[in-house]
Amino acid sequence: MTIVRVRSFAFLGIDAVPIQVEVQISNGLPAFLIVGLADKSVAEARERVRAALTAMGLALPPKRILINLAPADLQKEGSHFDLAIALAVLGAMDVLPRDELARFAAIGELSLDGTLNPVSGVLPAALGAVQAGLGLICPQRQGGEAAWAGPAAGVLAAPDLLSLLAHFKGTQVLTPPEPPGLAEPGFLPDLSDVKGMETAKRALEIAAAGGHSLLLTGPPGGGKSMLAARLPDLLPDLSPEEALEVTTIHSVAGLLEEGKLVKRPPFREPHHSASQAAMVGGGPRAKPGEVSLAHRGVLFLDEMPELPRQSLEALRAPLETGRTTVARAAGHFTYPARFQLIAAMNPCRCGHLGDPGRECRRAPRCGEDYLAKISGPMLDRIDLSVQVQPVSPSEIARAPAGEPSAVVAGRVAACRARQQARQDGRCNAEAAPEQFALAEDARTLAEQAAERLRLSARGFTRLLRVSRTIADLAEDELVRRTHVAEALTYRHRDAARTTG
Ligand SMILES: Nc1ncnc2c1ncn2[C@@H]1O[C@H](COP(=O)(O)OP(=O)(O)OP(=O)(O)O)[C@@H](O)[C@H]1O
Ligand SMILES: [Mg+2]
Repeated sequence: MTIVRVRSFAFLGIDAVPIQVEVQISNGLPAFLIVGLADKSVAEARERVRAALTAMGLALPPKRILINLAPADLQKEGSHFDLAIALAVLGAMDVLPRDELARFAAIGELSLDGTLNPVSGVLPAALGAVQAGLGLICPQRQGGEAAWAGPAAGVLAAPDLLSLLAHFKGTQVLTPPEPPGLAEPGFLPDLSDVKGMETAKRALEIAAAGGHSLLLTGPPGGGKSMLAARLPDLLPDLSPEEALEVTTIHSVAGLLEEGKLVKRPPFREPHHSASQAAMVGGGPRAKPGEVSLAHRGVLFLDEMPELPRQSLEALRAPLETGRTTVARAAGHFTYPARFQLIAAMNPCRCGHLGDPGRECRRAPRCGEDYLAKISGPMLDRIDLSVQVQPVSPSEIARAPAGEPSAVVAGRVAACRARQQARQDGRCNAEAAPEQFALAEDARTLAEQAAERLRLSARGFTRLLRVSRTIADLAEDELVRRTHVAEALTYRHRDAARTTG
């Protein structure tokens, strides 16, 4: 009585954990059992495997077929175990060569006719297979995604079970897939469309250059959303390691477009009704949240105070640590979540606070109430806060086109390169301020301002980081008083708080 084993994977966060699918066929009452802490989606594999084999003209032997998913104490979920189960059963039935099967891991969902359907997590599975010195069998449409794991991956991308049978028999060999190229972002609006608003544009450039968080406050129709949407285009390409990491997260989330590599920083714009689980991950099916989908890219919170309080507060930990932890039956696991936050808000609910002709009767209380929806610790994590002054329609019509995104992106790239060379690959938003060369009068100004604005230790650190970026944009190795002075102009929130 032999046992046939085929490797597959379970996903904990973005890690592919090896799972051994074991099949034993023994004499006894005919049965088809799956054990090993499988949830309903895995248990249903039984019916899909049975139907797929029948579609190929193969009947299951009238014996006791036992499937074990080891390690048995780890919760398994998802339909992606179908393929490994089917292959192991075919091995145990002597339809497929067992020694060949031992050289592969497998992931894919079976259709009733034996077709292989796409599943999430193919890229981390391929990386896991390479690590274990195995090849990967996956659905044909995802072969390209698996191929990103490197030439060692030995990927077999099959349209259905029958073609796998033909491949192992040698009658029709499957050709190895090629990586499918880079994901092209759709149309991105250009910065040159934004007329005037020089202060806000400068703040956007500083935020892009140093990876800082930015809050734009202003009346409706003032161009806040317009500015925020132009941030991703100012950021440099992801490095090859970052691209693989981001693509892996998107693969686990099942969001990868035709298996293309994500080379540009992602831009996520969750709706302001987004739940906590949608924001930081979790829920009944643990999937990466918005903060992880925005990893190495931008998270844009439009109408920030309208977000549910819990969703907003849940951002505090990832903003500090660059990770998010989700509790599951199988234990706690973490997703990477190092993103740049850009938020927009109106000054109050009606949006016209501060405009003498239009503000409502509840001013200025309405503004305070509106801002109070964002907690102090959350505001403390904002590096740059600027007031967006709307440009009048006639000025918009008359003003010349501004600088195009490509020009600003060039300066941003050069500025990032300076920071990374100096700080071990870290941008200023992640660097320790003790490393910064600070002029004596610059430090004095920063300390005085911190006292006057009653900045927290975190606020002070963030002020120095923004000053560092302003110095870097000026190609100055020393942070001078003027750089700190400019950084202080982007603390609109603190200034508003202390002047009442
Ligand atoms: N400075 C500007 N240059 C060119 N167009 C502008 C400018 N400001 C506003 N607009 C025009 O106004 C429209 C509305 O701007 P946007 O949606 O960015 O405003 P908003 O500040 O996000 O408003 P809300 O608070 O209502 O969300 C833009 O799509 C653009 O057509
Ligand atoms: Mg808007």
